[in-house]
Amino acid sequence: MAQPEQTTRDPGVDKPFLTDVLTLRARARENLNGGAVTSTYRGDVQKTIDILQSVLATEIVCVLRYSMHSVAAAGISSEGVKAEFAEHADEERAHMMAVAERITQLGGTPNFNPEGILSRSASEYGKAGNLIEMIEENLIAERIAVDHYRELIRYFGDDDPGTRIMIEGILVVEEEHADDMHDLLVAHQGKPMLEG
Ligand SMILES: [Fe+2]
Ligand SMILES: [Fe+2]
Repeated sequence: MAQPEQTTRDPGVDKPFLTDVLTLRARARENLNGGAVTSTYRGDVQKTIDILQSVLATEIVCVLRYSMHSVAAAGISSEGVKAEFAEHADEERAHMMAVAERITQLGGTPNFNPEGILSRSASEYGKAGNLIEMIEENLIAERIAVDHYRELIRYFGDDDPGTRIMIEGILVVEEEHADDMHDLLVAHQGKPMLEG
């Protein structure tokens, strides 16, 4: 009889224990209804889904705010800014869809219900009256998202690497967005790039 191929290494000191392929194959056949959620999922699935519903609402609010700003910004100097807002709206939409997909993978139903979106969201919709206020509101929203996502990355850690890596990818884009909004603010307020 052929010996099972072993991927187990000496647990030793520095290497994590690796399960042999036969155990992996057997375990994968259990609870097929779980889909991507297997017995090694170390997080609390329902809590993860609840957190992701809040992230989804945050991204939806960002799509709405940037979309509104991309059409509402007026004035001769606003064309470049409007294009930037529109680009960000597209990227926020991609985030929204990625988070919704992840909720589905974990067995949940993404909550796109407009009712309650603002209270589930970390970022705000805002009520900017001019270009500078729009840029400021977006910068604030990005900074909220950056803080929130950094915290979530630490929270998920090794318990749910799939969700963590998705949020890491989103975080990098939110940091770029914050930087873009900061640059626009500096350009439109005519302040020097570096203070002090
Ligand atoms: Fe986003
Ligand atoms: Fe963003």
